[in-house]
Amino acid sequence: MESQITFVLLSLCLLPIVFVLVNSRSFSIDYKNNCFQKDGKPFQYISGSIHYSRIPREYWKDRLLKMYMTGLNAIQVYVPWNFHETVQGVFNFAGDRDLEYFLNLANQTGLLVILRPGPYICAEWEMGGLPAWLLQKPNIILRSADTEYLKPASDWLAMLLTKMKPWLYQNGGNIISVQVENEYGSYFACDYNYMRHLHTLFRLFLGEDVILFTTDGNTDKEMICGTLEGLYATIDFGTDTNITAAFIRQRRFEPKGPLVNSEFYTGWLDHWGDKHASVDTVKVSKMLGEMLSMGASVNMYMFEGGTNFGYWNGKFRSVVTSYDYNAPLSEAGDPTDKLLAIRDVIKNFRDIPVGPMPPATPKFAYGFITLQKVSLLDTLSPQGPVRSQYPLTFEEIKQYYGFMLYRTTLPRNVPEPTPLISPLNGIHDRAYVSVNGVFQGLMERDTALVMNVTGQQGDQLDILVENMGRVNFGSYINDNKSLLGNLILGNDVLTDWSIYPLDIDTAVANGLLQVDHSGSAMEAGDGPMIYSGTLKSTGLAWDTFVKLNGWTKGQVWVNGVNLGRYWPQRGPQQTLYVPGPFLSATQPNNITVLELERAPSSELTMTFNELLSHEDIELFLNHSGWPVS
Ligand SMILES: *[C@@H]1O[C@H](CO)[C@@H](O)[C@H](O)[C@H]1NC(C)=O
Ligand SMILES: *[C@@H]1O[C@H](CO)[C@@H](O)[C@H](O)[C@H]1NC(C)=O
Ligand SMILES: *[C@@H]1O[C@H](CO)[C@@H](O)[C@H](O)[C@H]1NC(C)=O
Ligand SMILES: *[C@@H]1O[C@H](CO)[C@@H](O)[C@H](O)[C@H]1NC(C)=O
Ligand SMILES: *[C@@H]1O[C@H](CO)[C@@H](O)[C@H](O)[C@H]1NC(C)=O
Ligand SMILES: *[C@@H]1O[C@H](CO)[C@@H](O)[C@H](O)[C@H]1NC(C)=O
Repeated sequence: MESQITFVLLSLCLLPIVFVLVNSRSFSIDYKNNCFQKDGKPFQYISGSIHYSRIPREYWKDRLLKMYMTGLNAIQVYVPWNFHETVQGVFNFAGDRDLEYFLNLANQTGLLVILRPGPYICAEWEMGGLPAWLLQKPNIILRSADTEYLKPASDWLAMLLTKMKPWLYQNGGNIISVQVENEYGSYFACDYNYMRHLHTLFRLFLGEDVILFTTDGNTDKEMICGTLEGLYATIDFGTDTNITAAFIRQRRFEPKGPLVNSEFYTGWLDHWGDKHASVDTVKVSKMLGEMLSMGASVNMYMFEGGTNFGYWNGKFRSVVTSYDYNAPLSEAGDPTDKLLAIRDVIKNFRDIPVGPMPPATPKFAYGFITLQKVSLLDTLSPQGPVRSQYPLTFEEIKQYYGFMLYRTTLPRNVPEPTPLISPLNGIHDRAYVSVNGVFQGLMERDTALVMNVTGQQGDQLDILVENMGRVNFGSYINDNKSLLGNLILGNDVLTDWSIYPLDIDTAVANGLLQVDHSGSAMEAGDGPMIYSGTLKSTGLAWDTFVKLNGWTKGQVWVNGVNLGRYWPQRGPQQTLYVPGPFLSATQPNNITVLELERAPSSELTMTFNELLSHEDIELFLNHSGWPVS
């Protein structure tokens, strides 16, 4: 039985075949020999996922070269719609968003590209890559044939796919195949009209020649709802899966053609408050070898994870800032033992490029800096408040990410501790509460929906609401941010809000928070507050990791670039990656911190340190303390 199954699954890709040479560039599926065919010859891809949106542009080439030197012949790339169309109808493909430059670098490096343009991508990315402005339509059914969704999605795809067409392999570029949607079978809607519409659009803009495919999880339900005739069905699974059983499932949906694991998990992601995730190197390399020897084409997810800079992390529970993923290349792009083990496996299947693996990028321990308090937050809303009887959502106010301040007054005297309640679990996602500027505590979605408040009638009640990243997976991706529903203090519904959209990132980038506006009058206190400091120039702009000793939770900027969230108390992540290109070698570097809960009680310092290797980082995460040198 076992040998019969193996025989059925074995692809003829591995057998010597006499070829008919074709003149033009072509990439297609060879149903007769159960493999891909490139320029008329059997082709098996060994690919790795890399997300340009999680790596500074300056480092794209370095990461791609390391992937090439591992022996990969392809990369798999997601295109996050919300990264490129932050405002509806305005497309941004500049700088860190320059997809064509990225494709060009991959092409120069000798890597083919498997493109995954969504429109939904999951990827542990904010809202699975969908723009939050879609949520202005209250009853929108995302990822379905609902025209409220389909119209803007089609406009985006028309724009993107037109740009991608010259990059298709047969047109002289390096894109060999294009994925339609993403694991659609795990979404509740199971809307074939939606998938058919996407199929038509992709064909319309990319032509008849390109391979279009789907990727779904390894269950029948997912394969049934996610696959569609005309789109080649592939599957994804990790090291805990029986390879034979998984490929038999793919065969039920694609009786002929190449076996493909589109996401072979080399590692896993971390959520705030969870144990650090890792996947064993021996298991990864052994299973990769088994799949390749069956003739399967494999994409490793991730090969280089990178970083959720700014507010780009997704959420099921909120994903940490690092997207290291325990991948073969670390968050900082350093080759790991996992990479070397994978390279040793690949050597058995294809010639790997001669020459040394590029080394880890240099790191530097710049030491500690001292910060000072700069300002409270309500100065950061240049356009002033929006007034409303009941709380409005971030989406209604069109500030989609970061923070908003909801301000009202206490409707009566509350001399005794009185419960402030969010009855409908409406804190999306964290609320930092103060009365007359004195921090009272915080509320948190799903876990802390009641807290006590005291004060006098007419006292100013400030609630800073933090968006922790929108849900990127499952049925609840319509993830409004706000105080959804009303807040109740004792028996009173709180009304008459002044809502301040806070554009902290622009203020930081414009240097507004670098000077001390406040004089010496402000005492260090609990609650949301901005701090700033300067890292002296050293003549170097090398990578480093910043550790916020004794800080609680917040956001850090370096020279106006938002490094992401820190939250050492919840962990597991303890440091933030600072890529060298964000630093200046010659000028003092401006450091800004938004601490939301509690600054250190003694020294307001933070330390820029070097973690030399992936193993050091892992050791550090495992033990939540500095590795002893
Ligand atoms: C999102 O907010 C809008 C406006 O308040 C509301 O109409 C809609 O029902 C909300 N959606 C969800 C899923 O809560
Ligand atoms: C990709 O690289 C190949 C080989 O270096 C080159 O001939 C081709 O013009 C490149 N394609 C594009 C679209 O830049
Ligand atoms: C893997 O799956 C195949 C096919 O279902 C089965 O024959 C085999 O026993 C399984 N192997 C293990 C180790 O469970
Ligand atoms: C609020 O205060 C009351 C009375 O002091 C106390 O019993 C209760 O535990 C407090 N609730 C919270 C959520 O702190
Ligand atoms: C730091 O901020 C100052 C004041 O805004 C500015 O002049 C300087 O260029 C900034 N430094 C860097 C490295 O951006
Ligand atoms: C970290 O912990 C994981 C899981 O317990 C373990 O496999 C790994 O070897 C540890 N790493 C280091 C560097 O100690």
